[in-house]
Amino acid sequence: MKIAILSRAPRSYSTQRLRAATIDRGHEVRVLDSMRFAIDLSGAEPDLQYRGRRLSEYDAIIPRIGNSITYYGTAVVRQFEQMDVYTPNTAAGIANSRDKLRANQILSRHGIAMPPTAFVRDRADVIPAIERVGGAPVVLKLLEGTQGIGVILAPEIKVAEAIIETLQSTRQNVLIQKFIKESKGRDIRALVIGDRVVAAMRRIANGDEFRSNVHRGGGVERVELDTEYEHAAVRSAQIMGLKIAGVDMLESDDGPLVMEVNSSPGLEGIETATKLDVAGAVIDYIANQVAFPQIDVRERLSVSTGYGVAELVVHGDANLIGKPLGDSGLRERDIAVLTLHRGATVIPNPLPYHVLEADDRLLCFGKLEEMRSLIPARPRRRPRVKRLPKQPLPAPE
Ligand SMILES: Nc1ncnc2c1ncn2[C@@H]1O[C@H](COP(=O)(O)OP(=O)(O)O)[C@@H](O)[C@H]1O
Ligand SMILES: [Mg+2]
Repeated sequence: MKIAILSRAPRSYSTQRLRAATIDRGHEVRVLDSMRFAIDLSGAEPDLQYRGRRLSEYDAIIPRIGNSITYYGTAVVRQFEQMDVYTPNTAAGIANSRDKLRANQILSRHGIAMPPTAFVRDRADVIPAIERVGGAPVVLKLLEGTQGIGVILAPEIKVAEAIIETLQSTRQNVLIQKFIKESKGRDIRALVIGDRVVAAMRRIANGDEFRSNVHRGGGVERVELDTEYEHAAVRSAQIMGLKIAGVDMLESDDGPLVMEVNSSPGLEGIETATKLDVAGAVIDYIANQVAFPQIDVRERLSVSTGYGVAELVVHGDANLIGKPLGDSGLRERDIAVLTLHRGATVIPNPLPYHVLEADDRLLCFGKLEEMRSLIPARPRRRPRVKRLPKQPLPAPE
């Protein structure tokens, strides 16, 4: 296998470790500067030049795109995607995770617990937004901050308002977020590779600092994560489209609250804290994926007219609940069940004896017409009911 590490910091700990791990496993590796690529759309096929010469063939890339070069860096990653070079983190995933608001918006619809957050523009909306997330003290965050820079704890509403106004006047966008007191300057970093957490650490802020970033002087310790934390981390990375990610979570009284998902997690802190070979795990994962490249199943399976993939949900469906899959009648209707999702577990290629339960989700391939009747109605937004006033309304005269 031949791997390119896209990095502007060839001497950094993470790049060095990834490079060494690749060589250790008998693969070829180059560290390439993301800013020295030229995206070439002049020929018949998408192409890339590197330092003025045509790029040689690579099996995979490991993008380590710094915050300051997100736009160009993701464009280069996207070009590799067009050329069918495997990347664990897609350009879309990197771009989405980089912007804290965008990441929060995407995660929130998938039921990932996050600190209550608001984003407003108009002056008149600032105070109500702060109050909605729980009032002062309140955390303010620049959308594209990193290493703790641009994360402020405002002790009072008036101060928060002044900070927001100042930042907005310099055209900076700010998130308003509930301050999770009980996390007490600590957070969890879970390193996700594929569908599991391979290493995790707790970061502890220095002194009375509330930000636990290592760049702010925080310390680290190894932790064993509860499954609740593992699930939150893996799901968040998956939703963001990142196969390699550092997921940051606060430990709240109600369990994990996901703060951010990093697409180029640093390896130094986590390898030091856990003594685990995270770089090696990254390379092993990539080698596996290159052997079995991702294919867009939906696209490939939609080729014959009238057939496609769909997810069916076993709702209060008396015809299905309690029946073994073999007696469900699905196969007779030309519907093949590829996977069965039940809560957090997945049964791949379920067999005819698997008994269906309420709320099982079946990923199916079959005749669209047959499946249409089984697809649940689109979820509706909760109807908003106006609260009745505490005092009864005065009777009309
Ligand atoms: N809502 C919050 N409540 C309490 N602590 C927070 C909150 N948001 C962030 N922090 C602390 O500040 C640190 C930096 O915040 P984060 O959103 O991860 O920004 P960055 O991208 O700069 O690392 C976190 O690691 C955490 O320790
Ligand atoms: Mg962070």
